[in-house]
Amino acid sequence: MNIPGIDSTGNSGSISRRKFIAGTGALVGTFLAGSGLLSSCSDENAVQTITVTAIKPQFISPYDGKAFATFEELTSYIEQYYPGQQPVNRFISPYDGREFITLEEFKTHLDDLFGGTGFVTLSVNGRYYSLHVKANWALSFVLRERLGLTGTKIGCNRGSCGSCTVIMDGKAVFSCIVLAIEAGNKPITTIEGLSDGIHLHAVQQAFIDNDAVQCGYCTPGFIMCAKALLDKNTNPSVQEIREALSGNLCICGNTKKIVAAVASFSQGL
Ligand code: FES
Repeated sequence: MNIPGIDSTGNSGSISRRKFIAGTGALVGTFLAGSGLLSSCSDENAVQTITVTAIKPQFISPYDGKAFATFEELTSYIEQYYPGQQPVNRFISPYDGREFITLEEFKTHLDDLFGGTGFVTLSVNGRYYSLHVKANWALSFVLRERLGLTGTKIGCNRGSCGSCTVIMDGKAVFSCIVLAIEAGNKPITTIEGLSDGIHLHAVQQAFIDNDAVQCGYCTPGFIMCAKALLDKNTNPSVQEIREALSGNLCICGNTKKIVAAVASFSQGL
């Protein structure tokens, strides 16, 4: 899988995840390491983009601060200019400050920290987010815990209840069983993306008008599923509505009113 990220020279680009992981480890000279930073910016269309600056491995001489691109260059420099000194006596992680005696231990630590990660650009509610995600992170987790979009609810967390439904690429999907890394560059709409900030979306209003909300926990998932249906079929039959909503569960037992809310869009019903 190719993902947007950095290439082996540290420039932005698209590389395989395996190459990305291999290039991410910033090895440390005696006291310091390479650096990576996150910066955010927004354009005049108020599209928020978080860009990630490439992490370049650096090997810093503890004796004079000189930086080298490879560990071998650092060692031979120290052997030449600081003979008799031990070139490297510890490795310090620039990410959490932990110290390691051997390079192997340090590499293992970096693998633990960054193994199986990559960058993904998510398009959510018209905004773009470039994020560093782990390979096993679900879209629902990233929406809630990384983007703060907690309107998407997690119920079963195993693709059985529909509480986490969002619209991705025009289809209703259970975001708890979609990997964030798979959702790159696909338009995603969550419940937060429906209202214009002042007025509720018509589907949201229909749920209120039909008293289709009881405890409310499953409601965002039902609304997103209903919207995906109505986007494709503006005049669904009750049977079509029931089929479309069949993956969503309402533990309160309010399904009849939920179906009525969606049916209120159909002519002649
Ligand atoms: Fe995703 Fe239940 S939380 S289907």
